[in-house]
Amino acid sequence: MSFRTIIEPFRIHSTQAIRSITSEQREAALERAGYNLFGLHGDDVLIDLLTDSGTGAMSSRQWAAMMDADESYAGSRSFYRFQDVVRDITRLKEVIPTHQGRAAERILFSVVVKAGQVVPNNTHFDTTRANIEFCSAEARDLVIPEGRIPAARHPFKGNMDVTALEATIQEVGRDRIPLVMVTVTNNSGGGQPVSLANLKAVRAVCDKHRLPLYLDACRFAENAYFIKLREEGYAGKTAREIAREMFALADGCTMSAKKDGLANIGGFLAMNDPAVARECRNLLILTEGFPTYGGLAGYDLEAVATGLDEALDEDYLKYRLRSTAYLAERAEQGGVPVVQPPGGHAVYLDARALLPHIPAGQYPAQALAVELYRAGGVRGVEIGSVMFAKRHADGSETPAAMELVRLAVPRRTYTQSHIDYVGEVIAAVAQRKDALRGYRIVEQAPWLRHFTARFAPL
Ligand code: F0G
Repeated sequence: MSFRTIIEPFRIHSTQAIRSITSEQREAALERAGYNLFGLHGDDVLIDLLTDSGTGAMSSRQWAAMMDADESYAGSRSFYRFQDVVRDITRLKEVIPTHQGRAAERILFSVVVKAGQVVPNNTHFDTTRANIEFCSAEARDLVIPEGRIPAARHPFKGNMDVTALEATIQEVGRDRIPLVMVTVTNNSGGGQPVSLANLKAVRAVCDKHRLPLYLDACRFAENAYFIKLREEGYAGKTAREIAREMFALADGCTMSAKKDGLANIGGFLAMNDPAVARECRNLLILTEGFPTYGGLAGYDLEAVATGLDEALDEDYLKYRLRSTAYLAERAEQGGVPVVQPPGGHAVYLDARALLPHIPAGQYPAQALAVELYRAGGVRGVEIGSVMFAKRHADGSETPAAMELVRLAVPRRTYTQSHIDYVGEVIAAVAQRKDALRGYRIVEQAPWLRHFTARFAPL
């Protein structure tokens, strides 16, 4: 017999209390934080959907592996175990641990990206973009047109526009393109997957122009399971086999193990080119640490090694993608349109569609994010013009392509009743949407301003 309900494929072994605070306390917390949800004290948040990064619950197997870690400065047994697991999944030869994804990005780009160059990607995540721009290069987003339209349904909305990639190479010249990247899943475009057919097509363009292809692999396991569910010919393959096929098309990857590594910290950089690896390790020693630990404790390496295997467990992946889709259904039932189809790790509320009376320059997605916290202590994150507007020298801004609020689902952390509660909060905010007002920025940093900007309500 088979049953309809997809259960959490674990039982809860230890718990952590969360408490709710009054609406007056939430209002005061918002004022203190300058209406920036990154500025809140974690204890003032009831359900924290700010990120799925480093916020998941680890398994008893991970904790057990951590207890048995080797803290040798050089040549730790835990490093070799980590390297074996990464190589088994990616088949990439050189494995360089880093403390998280952006460290891998910074090191890779410092080695391969020169000023004036252009890096194509389906959509750069904010740290990826910032690290490329920090090298005085251009980060160019080339996702397929459907990937920019929240309501457009496409099974692989994270795919790269291969024609646009070819046109970019013609326009810029291959010598000004140090590498091509593809982000799986496409976080900034809605957590949308990339198909193997698309990866193969991108690979063919890279081969034709002799360009290296790197995956931003943070959510490779979720991407692999989407391929299993949606791409013709993959239903009979395991997530691990599909992941291997994805990595087989790449020359390297950057990885934040805080996502599909199911760990609270960690990452890596992996590639086949030994010359690039040598230069990366030289930089690693300068800022992260010796190449067999890269800024991580031996126990972190163990947590990641075990987590990478658990992330490919299909009972887990089935539950994972279903629980995110469930949140999307709840949001739509509550009257808030979401990016369709829902992504793997997060649901993206379409603030522009919900709040047409707030212009982009008054940050409608920021207004929605603040309101979800104000109403019910739910913290999401703005992924719109606060994060991605193009800022010009005269202070004006070109708005971002979409105005979204991301509700990211931490892995193995919240139960279905937590999500039902979030659905109620969303519905309550949608009921009074006409009363919502925009924000202006009163203080901001030159890059990655969304982390620290302060706002005032209009
Ligand atoms: N690439 C992607 C696609 C990401 O989503 C992230 C992080 C990174 C790179 C950087 O990794 O945080 O370990 O340095 N995303 C988190 C998020 C922060 O909330 O989406 P990191």
